[in-house]
Amino acid sequence: MNQRLAIVLEICVLGISIAVSSLIWAAAAPTPPKVPSGWKFSLPDGDATAGKTVFLNMKCYSCHAIEIPGEKLTMRSKGAGPELNGYSVLPKEYLAESIMKAHTVVAAPGYTVKEGRAAMGEYNHLLAVQELVDLVAFLKQGTKSGAK
Ligand code: HEC
Repeated sequence: MNQRLAIVLEICVLGISIAVSSLIWAAAAPTPPKVPSGWKFSLPDGDATAGKTVFLNMKCYSCHAIEIPGEKLTMRSKGAGPELNGYSVLPKEYLAESIMKAHTVVAAPGYTVKEGRAAMGEYNHLLAVQELVDLVAFLKQGTKSGAK
């Protein structure tokens, strides 16, 4: 008899301690993170000279004409893309997105995203984040200030 009472008591104590500890846990649970008001995605400033190297290494010029003083980069292939000279007027974030999401967004008149198949290849697995940032800095430089 006594033993049975002891077991019942033990179960009660266990139940109470579980309830108490879950209450403590609930009180200590961190509040979920919130996006700060006014937040907007922004790309850091890159190095245009490094971006030019990326542009050359990735052979972006095989589809995009861009004027770089001292270099002939006007080769065009069958899948030619828009000329990128005037792109310095576009926001950095737009340029980055148009490279990352080839090509759900296209600013060039006359170019449309072909169904199912992006005319431009996929570069996300080839570009380091810093390379993308520098590439955008290079495109932002445009031809006015002159790419070094
Ligand atoms: C095989 C050809 C090809 C290569 C290589 C290529 N592109 Fe493209 N690119 C295109 C085409 C075509 C478009 C137009 C949109 C589309 O059809 O996908 C385009 C669009 C773009 C756009 C957006 C234009 C707009 O109007 O919004 C940017 C920026 C761009 N390319 C940059 C690059 C960069 C940087 C590289 C090198 C890392 C590169 N491209 C390599 C063919 C190419």
